[in-house]
Amino acid sequence: MARKSAAPGKSWLRCKPVGVGACAGQEVMPNDAFATLVDTSDAWISKRTGIRNRHKLKEGSSLREIAVESALASLANSGVKASDLDLVIVATSSPDDLFGDAASVASAIGAHKAAAFDLTAACSGFVFGLVTASQFLHSGAYKKVMVIGADALTRFLDWSDRGTCILFGDGAGAVVLEATDSVEESGVLGFALHSDGERYPNLKLKFESKFSALGNAEGSVVDRGEYGKIGMNGPEVYKFAVNEVPDVIAEALSNAGLQAGDVDWLLLHQANIRIMEHAADVLKIPMDSVLRNIEEYGNTSAGSIPLALAEAVRSGKVKKGDVIACAGFGAGLSWASVIIKWGG
Ligand code: ACO
Repeated sequence: MARKSAAPGKSWLRCKPVGVGACAGQEVMPNDAFATLVDTSDAWISKRTGIRNRHKLKEGSSLREIAVESALASLANSGVKASDLDLVIVATSSPDDLFGDAASVASAIGAHKAAAFDLTAACSGFVFGLVTASQFLHSGAYKKVMVIGADALTRFLDWSDRGTCILFGDGAGAVVLEATDSVEESGVLGFALHSDGERYPNLKLKFESKFSALGNAEGSVVDRGEYGKIGMNGPEVYKFAVNEVPDVIAEALSNAGLQAGDVDWLLLHQANIRIMEHAADVLKIPMDSVLRNIEEYGNTSAGSIPLALAEAVRSGKVKKGDVIACAGFGAGLSWASVIIKWGG
């Protein structure tokens, strides 16, 4: 079926990112630790994915805890006070509470006047969240917004499935955005968002229904199921990523009035080093300009882009004024790109 493109995210928006922070799960798990779980090897994992370590939540920790740590670090990096935040968005597919973690995270950091909500778009969640935040800022509704990408997908892994359990880690990252007075000062230059539910079966984390009698007089039934484990058709998701990611970045760049040559850094969802190499090759961006930390953290879903950005800003690699082409992709299926100019 021919699909209509989403409306283009044309033109520069009146807002800019001004600070970033991150926090990964506390317990490091190297590739060798899988040897006793599944039939795999450090050589296979590092060659086929680029991953060497991943970080898991330590016992007693929570998604909220790493989200709060990342949020506090982004406030420190930006110089913005929590009490000045108007909105906190938490992009996650693995909240501590299905009713949402954003309100309790906002409260824990002292963002008492902020509205807060969760947003779910799996590994595209951070980009969807950042673009959502920028609409509130561009419209003039809000002045300061925080977007947190946080996931603990190790909670939902089938530890006997070597095709998925080796890929994921837990992590969070947060970015603070501020409204700007004019588009000339913009730090959100263009975007493109896409979803395709027809390809949904390739990557899912489903609620598994289990209807049974409630035992009341009326004889009603109730669903006593629970969420299952991540199921992924790896090769299909791989093909999807290599096909869609270069295109969505080109689309976002075009909406920004820019070309690949204008980009200082390419920052993709950290899912597989081969996907990053392919996208860089198609866009003719050298691998030296690709921000990556997949070796250390694996795929942290909505956390991966801000986690890599925080490290690059902290190390001094990314400087004020640098143009960064970001792209997230994953379940939905969904894929998205946003072109930012670093303003912190
Ligand atoms: N160790 C050893 N062998 C393995 C492993 C492993 N961990 N995993 C798979 N294999 C085997 C397979 O069984 C298969 O063996 P066979 O040839 O005997 O049948 C062989 O390796 C090749 O399997 P493929 O699945 O074709 O391997 P591929 O090179 O595609 O790598 C991977 C698998 C890493 C999962 C890759 O497909 C991938 O990265 N896919 C994309 C994942 C992604 O981008 N996800 C995005 C978002 S996640 C989200 O939204 C939540």
